[in-house]
Amino acid sequence: MKKYLYIANWKMNMPLLSACSFYSDHQQELERIAALPHVELVLCPSYVALSPLHALREKNSHIYLGAQNCASHNQGAYTGEVDALSLAHVGCTYCIVGHSERRQLYGETDAVIAEKITLLGQYDITPILCIGETQEEAMSNRTHDILSVQLEPVLKMQSIQSIVIAYEPFWAIGTGKTPSFTELSILFNWLFEHACKHASWLNVRLVYGGSVNASTIQMLKPLPFIDGFLIGSASCDFSMLKNIVE
Ligand code: 13P
Repeated sequence: MKKYLYIANWKMNMPLLSACSFYSDHQQELERIAALPHVELVLCPSYVALSPLHALREKNSHIYLGAQNCASHNQGAYTGEVDALSLAHVGCTYCIVGHSERRQLYGETDAVIAEKITLLGQYDITPILCIGETQEEAMSNRTHDILSVQLEPVLKMQSIQSIVIAYEPFWAIGTGKTPSFTELSILFNWLFEHACKHASWLNVRLVYGGSVNASTIQMLKPLPFIDGFLIGSASCDFSMLKNIVE
C-alpha cells in the first residue's frame, strides 16, 4: 500500500499551549491515524513547541516532528537563529525550508536555502523543500522555468540522500484556489522526470501544498507521482486534519 506523507505546517497559528493541547487532547486518535499503513504524519509546530511535543510523544509514537525553518549556519553570532543540530536534539526528523512566506517576507534566496539543506543532511533531518511560482509567473507560462531555477542548487548536491519537494504555488496558499487536476498531473509528471534526470541518486518524494482540505484532497490523491501533502490552516484543526488523512 502506498504511504502518503501528511505534513502539518502550523506556521505561527498555534501558540505553545495550543500546540501541546492539540497533541494531548487528541493523543489516542492522532496516534491511531499516524499508525495507519498508508500514512506518515509529520507535525511542524513553532520552534518553541518542538521540545515539549517531543517530550509528550510516547516512545513508540508514530508521529514525526518537523521544524518550519532552520539556520543556514551551524554556529556563531546569528541572533535569533536555530541550528540544525538543536533541531535534531529535540526529535526533528524533517524540516521545511524555502517556504514561500520565507522567500517573500524574509528574502530567502535559493543559495541560502541550499546551505540549510546541506546542514540538515549532516544531522539526518530530511529537508522539505518548498518551491512554487507566483500567479503572474503562472499566467505567463513560466512555471517550469521558475521551478527549475529553485531546484537547481539542490539537485546538484551529492551530500544528501533524501528530500521531500513540496510544490506550493504561491497563489494557492491560503486562498482556497488550487490548480486543476490536469495542470497538476502535467506538473508532477514534469517534476518526477526532472528529478530523475538531474538527481537520479537522490530519494525524492513529491508533495503538493496550497489549500489542501477534506474536499480538495479527493482530487489531489489520485495524482500521478504524488507522495503526500503539505497542509497549512486545515492542519491546525484536529477534525479537519483527521478528515484529510482518513
Ligand atoms: P494552506 O493549506 O493554508 O493553503 O497553506 C499551505 C501552506 O503554506 C503549507 O505550507
